[in-house]
Amino acid sequence: MNQKRPGFGTRIGFELAAAGSAVGLGNLWGFPYKTSANGGAAYLFVYLACILLVGAVAMLAEFTLGRRSRANTVSAYKAVSPNLGWLGLLVVVIPALIMCYYLVLGGYTVKYALGSFVGNAGKYEAFAGNVGDVILHTAVFALPAALIVIAGVRNGIEKAAKLLLPTMLLILIVISCVSLLLGEGVHEGLAFYLKPDFSKLTGSGILSAMGQAFFSLSLGCGAMIAYGSYSGQTVDLARSTVVVCLLDGLLTFLSGLAIFPALFHYAAISGASLSSLGMGGAGLTFITLPMVFEGLGLAGQIISLLFFTMMAIAALTSIISILEVVTQFIIQRHKLARTRAVSIVAFACLALSVPVGISLGLDVNGSKALCLFGRNLLELLDGVTNTLLMPLGALGACLAVGWKLPKAERFSGFTGTMLRIVTPVLIVLILVFGAVDMVFPATEAGRAFSADGFGMLMIAAGVVLLTIIAYFLWLKNRDTGSNQDEEAANAKREEAFRAGLQRGWQRPE
Ligand code: TRP
Repeated sequence: MNQKRPGFGTRIGFELAAAGSAVGLGNLWGFPYKTSANGGAAYLFVYLACILLVGAVAMLAEFTLGRRSRANTVSAYKAVSPNLGWLGLLVVVIPALIMCYYLVLGGYTVKYALGSFVGNAGKYEAFAGNVGDVILHTAVFALPAALIVIAGVRNGIEKAAKLLLPTMLLILIVISCVSLLLGEGVHEGLAFYLKPDFSKLTGSGILSAMGQAFFSLSLGCGAMIAYGSYSGQTVDLARSTVVVCLLDGLLTFLSGLAIFPALFHYAAISGASLSSLGMGGAGLTFITLPMVFEGLGLAGQIISLLFFTMMAIAALTSIISILEVVTQFIIQRHKLARTRAVSIVAFACLALSVPVGISLGLDVNGSKALCLFGRNLLELLDGVTNTLLMPLGALGACLAVGWKLPKAERFSGFTGTMLRIVTPVLIVLILVFGAVDMVFPATEAGRAFSADGFGMLMIAAGVVLLTIIAYFLWLKNRDTGSNQDEEAANAKREEAFRAGLQRGWQRPE
């Protein structure tokens, strides 16, 4: 059997890989601090509802797009309509942009995990400010990701997911149990996390929860289209969607269960006020948690090791999917071998992540030298992709599958209505409010125009425009390939290899 044939071998392998893409820093780093910032439990409930009602629908759309074409994202959209192919290219560009900063964050998790091995999870400023160290760890993080994708969908991605996702789940359950047994303060932490007070939830909190649900499910960036293209033809995609969403929701839920009791316990025993812990900010996992873990003695050290190792694993299974989206397109469009395609993409993104790491380091050290529109490059890329481009990608998938598929293939009933109307309307809301919030951020004196925010919006518009131009100039009328092409090329290579062997075999000595 050809070992490198693309495509998942089993249904569960496909589901675990998709869940691996979904579960990432969004769940373990983004969700807890956003929950704190938005009043706790109520946010959790809105988030879970969004995953099941809105996110799942968009995910089903993306799986469907991939599976019916069995090809990269560009060909997948082209198969719906040649004029929509640019959407497929957009969801190759978005993951490439995400990769440039996600690699850096992955490097952070590696640093923190290794730091816990030697007893102290690195201090944020000392690490982030040391650019050489950041780049080194980013490369250490990128290497296994590249190797896994080189090994192929079945032998790399699927095997890794089957091993790593259960590992993460196990670690998270262990940490949650330890955290719940800490004693003092645990009760308050649990109440904060699980007793909803819906009066604390603002409109922007609801939108944030929706956006977070989309990000967390890796929607709008091609990952689920690519993985869908490798799912077996007999897999029930609706069922798989539910499995993936439940897994993602479960891991998110557990991450809160692991973190909040520990935080409140720390506050109770150290006398630190909750507000001084900065739990509502992006520094929660990288600044506050190491401090909390350190304050908990030996147990804290063990939790720290487990927690950051799990975070590195989560980031790894996500970056693999981002890498696969871009790689799949390059392999099929340019008829390249997998190893070469991955090497090119990984090196390019690693090179691009260097300025991102430097910019962040300078920012931490108080210099805004490599900032654009008032943000360091990580914040810039994150803002542009997360707030604007990803919702756009997800909207495209819903509309294409909802309205543009041949009649016989369209979804009907509840799913159809959600896909055609409800979900697109909600995504448009996320997009519009996200853009308004960017260009007219709320200040104490009310909303005011921000030139920086406008600049970000223009960057996103520029990316979309360039993508459209590139597509219609270079791709629309060209063959953009399919999974079969990679299979055929692999079969040919193997045949040539066998023929070589045989010739060697026939020749005496
Ligand atoms: N879902 C990932 C997380 O929660 C982040 C993410 C967004 C992502 N888009 C993606 C991961 C695309 C892989 C591919 O951290």
